[in-house]
Amino acid sequence: MFCLGIESTAHTFGASLVDGNGSVLSDVRKSYKSAGKGIVPREVAAWHSENAGAIIEEAMVDGAEMVAFAQGPGIGNCLQVGSDAAHSLAEKLGVPLVGVNHCVAHLEIGRLFSKARDPVFLYVSGGNTQVVAFEAGKYRVFGETLDIGVGNLLDKFARFLGLGFPGGPALYELSKRGKYLPLAYSVKGMDVCYSGLFTQAKQAIEKGAAKEDVAYSLQETAFSMLVEVSERAMAHCGKNELLLGGGVAASPLLQEKCRVMCEARDAKFLPIEPKYAVDNAVMIAWQGLLERKKANREKWDIRPYWRTDEVAVDWR
Ligand code: ATP
Ligand code: FE2
Repeated sequence: MFCLGIESTAHTFGASLVDGNGSVLSDVRKSYKSAGKGIVPREVAAWHSENAGAIIEEAMVDGAEMVAFAQGPGIGNCLQVGSDAAHSLAEKLGVPLVGVNHCVAHLEIGRLFSKARDPVFLYVSGGNTQVVAFEAGKYRVFGETLDIGVGNLLDKFARFLGLGFPGGPALYELSKRGKYLPLAYSVKGMDVCYSGLFTQAKQAIEKGAAKEDVAYSLQETAFSMLVEVSERAMAHCGKNELLLGGGVAASPLLQEKCRVMCEARDAKFLPIEPKYAVDNAVMIAWQGLLERKKANREKWDIRPYWRTDEVAVDWR
């Protein structure tokens, strides 16, 4: 079975053909680049519309027997472009269509490639920060950010320092020479908050603290909070694998912290390869294959606020 997946939840538009064994036959992606002013939904959606046709055509290396698209969560205007493209492609090919959850797709592609069996998943991207695990028949969110995503925190602070986008890698380079200053560590129950940390880091710079010290301490604090919550989720669920995904999973500092925590618990640390940790259509195609029984010729509405724990998990 060959599935053509389409991803368009945020600034990446991707199309990919994957087969039922998880072999990737094509993986075409392009990301909208804003000139440092963040995402303007209408502009990204217009960019997706311009590029969708060529990206899908390039990805169609072989006959697709079904189409899958990211139904949500994400930016409404962007989701709509992917949805429209998926519906017309399924129509044109005369094949069934299925809408899948973007967050769950991140997790399942990680499970496929890392061979994790039943991990706690730490999903850290620009917009999303969640600790997820499979419990009592569904993917439950054990902890999440109460305000901004951790990638967003890194990007905002990097922009404040004039380092441009994406902020994560630039802050990491800067922080190599930094030393630790205490900043607001904010874990509430199983959730994390980042806006206080951002304000405090900004104020520290305004009061004359060295950029490299604040950059280092911001990451140290933000990542420690995530590792604490992930460890508690692992202990609570009795799971001994930690899967790390999302754009921020590429951070060597975060990876090191996760690795140390897992070693101490005798657990496996499984970082997803950066190429598949970020937004991509391979994971959407794979998720479509997992959910092929739901595929049909009906209309699938986009779900911009679709939560991970609302997904009906019937493939595991
Ligand atoms: P989503 O729509 O799922 O929220 P996204 O649009 O934010 O995803 P991703 O590519 O998953 O896209 O993540 C982007 C984030 O990853 C940015 O905040 C960026 O700063 C961060 N990032 C990328 N590389 C690194 C790195 N090496 N270290 C730390 N952060 C990184
Ligand atoms: Fe994502």
